[in-house]
Amino acid sequence: MLKIDDVHTTMATRPLDVVVFGATGFTGVEVALALARGTAPGLTWAIAGRSSAKLKFLAARCEAQSMDHGTRVLPPIIVADLSDEQSLLAMAQKCRLVLNCTGPYRYSRGLCMCIYGWPSHRCFLCKHH
Ligand SMILES: NC(=O)c1ccc[n+]([C@@H]2O[C@H](COP(=O)([O-])OP(=O)(O)OC[C@H]3O[C@@H](n4cnc5c(N)ncnc54)[C@H](OP(=O)(O)O)[C@@H]3O)[C@@H](O)[C@H]2O)c1
Repeated sequence: MLKIDDVHTTMATRPLDVVVFGATGFTGVEVALALARGTAPGLTWAIAGRSSAKLKFLAARCEAQSMDHGTRVLPPIIVADLSDEQSLLAMAQKCRLVLNCTGPYRYSRGLCMCIYGWPSHRCFLCKHH
């Protein structure tokens, strides 16, 4: 069982602030492109999903979007699948916040369980979670 102090320590040492999971869907693309347009200074973020090819395509779109807004950001890619608990755990261990844009949300129970087991903050982008 993790203690509160352990949680703060592990949170502080994670390489990423935010991961957009399900980044290749309608909602996820909007979130990723919004981050590419600009974030708080120093905020670190990545895009995640089950298709490496789609994520590479989106990363290139994010880079182009950021260059249109005066910076150059090529977000790192994390491959994770809701049906693969280990991939979810590995993703959760890399960041402080997961923005869950996968759908439909009824399939996200595995993600919830992984993140509760390895605490990250999480945000489900709809009310019917
Ligand atoms: N559309 C809206 O305006 C809107 C607004 C607010 C909230 N939402 C909510 O956001 C959620 C997503 O909606 P959407 O319209 O963006 O849906 P969508 O375009 O169908 O996107 C679904 C996303 O989930 C991913 N996904 C599906 N199964 C997965 C799995 N097993 N492992 C990993 N990723 C998986 C898809 O990956 P692939 O690309 O690889 O298929 C895709 O990135 C829904 O629950 C919806 O209620 C939508």
